[in-house]
Amino acid sequence: MNLLKHVAIIMDGNGRWGIKKRKSRNHGHKQGLKTVELIIRESIKKRIRFLTLYAFSTENWKRPKKEISFLFKLLENFLVTKINDLSKKGIKLKFIGDTTIFSNKLKHIIFKSEKTTKNNKKLQINLALNYGSRNELMFAFKNVKKKKLKITENNINNNLFTNKIPEPDILIRTGNTYRLSNFLLWQIAYSEIFFVKKLWPEFNRKDFNRIIFKFKNIKRNFGRV
Ligand code: FPP
Repeated sequence: MNLLKHVAIIMDGNGRWGIKKRKSRNHGHKQGLKTVELIIRESIKKRIRFLTLYAFSTENWKRPKKEISFLFKLLENFLVTKINDLSKKGIKLKFIGDTTIFSNKLKHIIFKSEKTTKNNKKLQINLALNYGSRNELMFAFKNVKKKKLKITENNINNNLFTNKIPEPDILIRTGNTYRLSNFLLWQIAYSEIFFVKKLWPEFNRKDFNRIIFKFKNIKRNFGRV
């Protein structure tokens, strides 16, 4: 059976869920956060070591201003109110993406969340914020060049936002959309990919466990026969 260390998720379908419920897209994001909390609890139960969540992409800035500010308020509020709880559960938080452009307030919240949880060992949550894989790769190549290193897989790995994090074993995308949307393109070279029809707020423990069960029984070849 395959060992499961790292799950990465594209949490798609919040907006559509909100509209389906005759409410707003933002209502969908609020409900999406509840699914995030559920999947965190389940990941701990399943002894998963890394959970990487695509919360805001470099392309999401094209959304209406009102939706963007709602998403960031939701995120800030989540971090401020839940960080101690998360820490008590043994969760370490890490942010991946270009966070340099954020407000001082958000930068401070990010800094504090990482600092408070830095020694925790149970589950590491990598929150992708203003993240884009091409952007990450460009950063990495520039850094490798600046440090006058050779272009090798190792040197590139060591200069990604995800350095020291093992590659995802599983990538899940909800929302009945079959694309990767600039997420971890380098890191998912050998990940098992699961596309799910359900919208993210509808995704539940059973769906998650079904994927884990399937993954554990897949024959992973990594290029061998
Ligand atoms: C994609 O659904 C989802 C997002 C861009 C945001 C994800 C955010 C959350 C789940 C809540 C906040 C999370 C944390 C970790 C605090 P979409 O809006 O693109 O859905 P659509 O395809 O139906 O429009």
